[in-house]
Amino acid sequence: DERGGALRDLVGRELLITAGGTREELDPVRFLANHSSGRQGWALAHAALVRGARVRLAAANVALETPPGADRLDVGSAAELAELVAAQLGQVDALVMAAAVADFTSAGRADQKIKKDEAAPDSVPILALARTQDILRHSVVSRGGAARPAIVGFAAETGGDGAAALDLARRKARRKGADLLVFNDVSAGVFGTADNEVRILDRDGEEVAHAAGSKTLVAHAVLDELLGRLPEVP
Ligand code: CTP
Ligand code: CA
Repeated sequence: DERGGALRDLVGRELLITAGGTREELDPVRFLANHSSGRQGWALAHAALVRGARVRLAAANVALETPPGADRLDVGSAAELAELVAAQLGQVDALVMAAAVADFTSAGRADQKIKKDEAAPDSVPILALARTQDILRHSVVSRGGAARPAIVGFAAETGGDGAAALDLARRKARRKGADLLVFNDVSAGVFGTADNEVRILDRDGEEVAHAAGSKTLVAHAVLDELLGRLPEVP
C-alpha cells in the first residue's frame, strides 16, 4: 500500500468503524441527508484490514463495495446507528466515528406522503425537527473510566480562514472527550473527493499529528495515532 509495506500492527485488534451519512425519513418517500460518501470510513477500514485488524463496518447509506474481510452492518438513520454502536461498544478495542450523523431528525415521520395543498398555492408545510443522540459523546460517557474502547471522532468544520475552523475543532475535541478528534477543514469542500488534509487533535485539543494526501494516507495517520491509545491486550 501507500505506506510502502504491510505493517501488521493491528493483529488481534477489533475496530468498529462507522461510515457514510445517515438518512432521516420525513415521509415514505423523502429524507434529510448529507453529502458524506463514506470514502474516509472505507479508507480507514481498508487500512485497518491491511494492518491485520478485524473490522466491523457500520455503513450508513454507502454506495461502495464492501472492503474484503470487513464485517459490514448497514444502517439508515442516526437512531439505528446509535443502537448499533451501543450494542457493540463493549465488544471492540476501538470505535472510529467517521460517519456523518444527522444532528436533527423528523419530530414525527408522516405515515403518508406529505402533499401540497392545492387550494393554497403559497402554503408550505412546517417541518418539526428533533435532536438526535450524540453517539460519539454518548459512547465516551458510557465508557466511563474504562480503558476500552479507544474512541476517535471526526470534525468537518468551515470557518472563514483556517484558524477559526481549527479553533472550533479544538473546542469540539475538549467537549467530546474522545481520545482523538480528526479535524478536517472543509471550507474549500472535500466531500466525494479523493484527497484530504487533517489535523489530529487529542482530548485537550492539542495537535498530535498532521496529514495531507489521499484518504488512505490520512487513514494510516489516524491508525498510527490510535495504536498508542488502544487498551492493553489482556
Ligand atoms: N456525531 C455523533 N452523533 C451525532 C453527531 C455527530 O456521533 N448525532 C459524531 C460524528 O460522527 C463525528 C463527531 O461527532 O465523529 C463530530 O461531528 P460534528 O458534526 O462535527 O459535531 P457536532 O457535535 O454534531 O457539532 P456541530 O454542531 O458542529 O455539527
Ligand atoms: Ca453535527
